[in-house]
Amino acid sequence: MTRQKIVAGNWKMNGSKESITTLVNSLLETESFNSEVVVLPPFPYLHLVSLLINKSSIVVAAQNVSDKTKGAFTGEVSASMLKDFGIKYVLVGHSERRSLYAENDTFIVLKIKALLASGLMPMFCIGETLEERNSNRTLSVCKKQLQAVLDEIGIDAFAKLVIAYEPVWAIGTRHSASAQQAQRVHQSIRSFLAKFSKSVAEKIQILYGGSVSSSASIDLFSMPDVDGVLVGSASLNINEFIKIVRIAS
Ligand code: PGA
Repeated sequence: MTRQKIVAGNWKMNGSKESITTLVNSLLETESFNSEVVVLPPFPYLHLVSLLINKSSIVVAAQNVSDKTKGAFTGEVSASMLKDFGIKYVLVGHSERRSLYAENDTFIVLKIKALLASGLMPMFCIGETLEERNSNRTLSVCKKQLQAVLDEIGIDAFAKLVIAYEPVWAIGTRHSASAQQAQRVHQSIRSFLAKFSKSVAEKIQILYGGSVSSSASIDLFSMPDVDGVLVGSASLNINEFIKIVRIAS
């Protein structure tokens, strides 16, 4: 089965009106891509980016969402509000949210449920720490993170989400996992899901994230189970990001 490649740029808490406008305009000037190009601006810029991309094929995604639907939750943004602005994907379970904001599996499940209820697609991030990798627990940690969600939403709902395998030790370190390391985990994720549903496992897109650069992308995209990349710092450098988009296409 051919799964469409995704190249997603997670801008995290970076950028300004000016720099984000420049980034998006440069992407718009690039020739059409075969992969799905996704940008994840900080909340205040979501609308600006949606206006800028207009009817192009670029997709806008959000970096976070509330687990609640509406009401007295100061500072929160609901899934239906994001839906209102044409958002397609939302990151959930990113390691920065897990480690810096104490988001655990239970909370992540609530966010995923909120997104699915509003027709948004979660980009569900999983991945092991260096200590877990060094003690040979990479696959068990990833499976545990998947199982926590699977138990609550069931395998059929997995057809409505994208998985991002992001080893914590590779995020923001400039040391991407090797393409072989990524492939091994991606393949295990797919076989784990296949035990519950072969068709969902075949269809689901599994992205790799963690210090993705254009040079790392060449090998990553040659791997059969790497269906795309979630790019952090390199996505703020438009030339580098466009190179990655070209490699994916
Ligand atoms: P990085 O970030 O590419 O800067 O390592 C990736 C991510 O956090 O999604």
